[in-house]
Amino acid sequence: MKKLLVINGPNINMLGIREPDIYGSKTYNDLHAFIGITANEAGFEVECFQSNSEGAIVDKIQQAYENFNGIIINPAAYTHTSIAIPDALKAVGIPAVEVHLSDISQREAYRRISYTSKACQMTIAGKGFEGYREAISFFQNLFDVK
Ligand code: DQA
Repeated sequence: MKKLLVINGPNINMLGIREPDIYGSKTYNDLHAFIGITANEAGFEVECFQSNSEGAIVDKIQQAYENFNGIIINPAAYTHTSIAIPDALKAVGIPAVEVHLSDISQREAYRRISYTSKACQMTIAGKGFEGYREAISFFQNLFDVK
């Protein structure tokens, strides 16, 4: 079975508490459960990882080398600041999809730049949890998983 790694960055563990008008009322545990069920139903093994630390995210991407077939990543605020995260994605060469819960193109100007997107096949934003489902569907098509 193909394996997907889902990485969520800083403050995603605060879902349900943080700015519910933007990110909704569901919690990180809800997201974790949603991803697990959706990925398994789609025919994938999945591991979810969340960290508030850029270095830990880079380490996790490096450890994915030869261990995962696809990466779904919401780098959260590091989207707009980190060069190390896209460098790590490029280094391991694992196909990656970037997901954002909110529509970063319609928010503050500083959120409109994504360094991560340069290392990803696709970016999905503004669809809440459904964005993660779309990312899983992308990998179903890529790997012809039924
Ligand atoms: C986010 C958007 C980022 O700009 C923000 O810093 C986040 C979450 C999203 O999922 O909408 O923490 O990645």
